[in-house]
Amino acid sequence: MEFKREIVAPIVRGMSSDGETPLIVTFLETNKAELTLVAQEVNATTIEKWRNQFNTFLKEKQRYPKSVKVDGEGWSLGVGRTLEEARMAQGAPLTKRVVTRGDVMRGKVALVTGGAQGFGAGIVRGLIGEGGIAYIADMNFEGAKELANQLNRDAGREVAIPLFVNVTDEASVEEMMNQVALKTGSLDIFVSNAGVLRAGSVKEQTLKDFQFVTNVDYTGFFICSKFASRQMSYQNLGSGNTHFSDIIVISSKSGLEGSNRNGSYAGAKFGVIGLTQSFALELVSDKIKVNAICPGNFFEGPLWSDPVTGLFVQYLETGKVPGAKTLHDVRRAYESKVPLDRGCRTEDVVRAICYVVEQKYETGQAVPVTGGQVMLN
Ligand SMILES: NC(=O)c1ccc[n+]([C@@H]2O[C@H](COP(=O)([O-])OP(=O)(O)OC[C@H]3O[C@@H](n4cnc5c(N)ncnc54)[C@H](O)[C@@H]3O)[C@@H](O)[C@H]2O)c1
Repeated sequence: MEFKREIVAPIVRGMSSDGETPLIVTFLETNKAELTLVAQEVNATTIEKWRNQFNTFLKEKQRYPKSVKVDGEGWSLGVGRTLEEARMAQGAPLTKRVVTRGDVMRGKVALVTGGAQGFGAGIVRGLIGEGGIAYIADMNFEGAKELANQLNRDAGREVAIPLFVNVTDEASVEEMMNQVALKTGSLDIFVSNAGVLRAGSVKEQTLKDFQFVTNVDYTGFFICSKFASRQMSYQNLGSGNTHFSDIIVISSKSGLEGSNRNGSYAGAKFGVIGLTQSFALELVSDKIKVNAICPGNFFEGPLWSDPVTGLFVQYLETGKVPGAKTLHDVRRAYESKVPLDRGCRTEDVVRAICYVVEQKYETGQAVPVTGGQVMLN
């Protein structure tokens, strides 16, 4: 195994895990070290040795080391230096933390792709509201920065970190994950939310449009899982047997049943559930759970409500809903298809994310959040 910062940072982070939440670690430009770890290469024996050294330090000093140096390398890791949550965690007892209800995201680091707007922005807000820290990773970097600035201002501390990513580009996703390793030493929850939709008849849709949707919605999840699972597995090598990380993909109601004239989207959303089940089987040994969330229609979001390009406008103009004279008529027609008589909201999705994170006895599942519109058998 190559000996890189991006590998060592997650392992050091994992070693500080209290069984639920590891500390945030970050790089310092110093050679001073309170704890020096010696290794020629990183393997199971080395990590066991490192963990013993780390635990001995905790026991003797009754506090976390301020910095950790890996012998032979010209750099050190500071433990919990950058973010307020880390300072809180450093002040936390050294014994295992007891997690209570409403405490599921406290001190955890999440990353949400497509986090600049729509469901993604709502998920970012929700996870921060539940006590977590969130990376907002989006192709729309300006939008991600704007949202992060606003959330940091509101919180009075750094709770959101913007990152550029194009989820269809391996190099871009790898670079995003390297940034994460250097900034917080890996992460706890990866939410693969970036998605696009181009509807069209199977008889008419261009291959270009079909592949555009498939690349973002299906292949993008594979690429993101590849690099997220690598870092999470390094982190979990150091964390003992109790810590689990989560990869969560935002599929759709259209991942559970077909969608008329929308095959490229539904096919990709079904596809990510197949990937979820397969990755879950493999990654359980890395202490990573993998689950999909399948929301119903999000009527407040731009896809439906944009005043120019939104689906409500399109459906009114094309007469898709017989008898509908106003946008409200179109909306009611769609709401009335849902037993619970409303669209899906971001808080519904956040609740489902909190459920799969908190639930330690489930993986490989597709959780519907459809107001009863799709019922599993
Ligand atoms: N809107 C709905 O009704 C609905 C229902 C069920 C599921 N979903 C799913 O929820 C997710 C979010 O949907 P939304 O309606 O909020 O979408 P949206 O169009 O409002 O936002 C999508 C975000 O993803 C970003 N993005 C697009 N391509 C990207 C790429 N290649 N790399 C990085 N970022 C990229 C965009 O910049 C944007 O910020 C999608 O996966 C979608 O399929 C949406």
